[in-house]
Amino acid sequence: MKFAKIVGLGKYLPPKILTNFDLEKMVDTSDEWITTRTGIKTRRIVEKGVGTSRLGYEASRLALKRAGLRPSQLDLIIVATITPDTQFPSTASYLQSYLKARRASCFDISAACAGYVYGLTSAWQMISGGLYKNALVVGAETLSSITDWSDRSTCVLFGDGAGAAVLTAGRKKSFLSSYLGGDGSQADLLILPGGGSHIPLSGEVIKKRLHYIKMRGNELFRIAVRVMVKAAQTALKRASLRTKDVSLLIPHQANERIINAVGKRLKISPDRIYKNISRYGNMSSASSAVALCEAWEEGKIKKDDIVALDVFGGGLVWGSCVIRWI
Ligand code: UT7
Repeated sequence: MKFAKIVGLGKYLPPKILTNFDLEKMVDTSDEWITTRTGIKTRRIVEKGVGTSRLGYEASRLALKRAGLRPSQLDLIIVATITPDTQFPSTASYLQSYLKARRASCFDISAACAGYVYGLTSAWQMISGGLYKNALVVGAETLSSITDWSDRSTCVLFGDGAGAAVLTAGRKKSFLSSYLGGDGSQADLLILPGGGSHIPLSGEVIKKRLHYIKMRGNELFRIAVRVMVKAAQTALKRASLRTKDVSLLIPHQANERIINAVGKRLKISPDRIYKNISRYGNMSSASSAVALCEAWEEGKIKKDDIVALDVFGGGLVWGSCVIRWI
């Protein structure tokens, strides 16, 4: 049983919808600007007091149900998030408690928008290494809690949500390859500067609004296209595949123009690229998690298809994972 495969997918999006027209009333922006520059029309926002673990819990319950597995059968829970319920304990610990998955080891991964691919890769390797049999990987975010709702350059972009995958040990190869990359020297391009050990939370931090996301979007745009292309190419090469073999590309949903540029450079036709950015905006680690789940729900992933996840985010970090759907 040295291979791992995905046996259940789930998602959860909070019911409250924030439209571009709602944002027009909050900051100096327009539906036209947001739509043409990003492709986003609406995003979901949690009610006050709802933490990331609750979103992860709903997505996980659905994934476990579809997998036909009880929480007590889980050996491992990984939550990829940059909006943990608390700095510690981990969001995975809360999730373990809500699920009553008492046997499961649990930890969080902080790899921003690339977190779900980092998480899937970790779980796959731990299962194929023989350490665990059943794992739950969750990408969950409440980005609304770290968004500066007075900053039009960022507040129109983000949303809340969660996606989950249950992985189990198997005899057939499903995860074909993975490539994870990073460049910490460019950390400042996308950062939440205040509230950590370097600049602890204080009145001054709050006054300067350093407890919110800061992003140099324009610079990130160019890097995102370049490294997402490189990530997908590298992962495919490691699997001895070419872009023409990809049945469905599931890219991180940060900007529709980034997705289109990546697809064009990889020569993957639009009908083989999954997008849900118009509905949910950028949900960081939850974006690719929800996109994979929705693509499967919509019947866009069939047996023996080659699915390539391709992600990029703050760190900077990026990655791609190639899966044969079995
Ligand atoms: O998820 C992790 C990684 N994230 C990314 O990769 C994000 C990558 N970056 C992007 O998606 C895009 O750069 C943005 C969507 C963030 C911005 O789009 P852009 O086309 O790069 O716009 P810009 O930042 O160059 O700004 C163009 C103009 C500026 O005005 P001036 O200086 O030309 O007069 C901005 O002030 O648009 C203005 N602007 C806005 N106008 C209306 C910025 N935000 C808004 C807004 N509404 N919400």
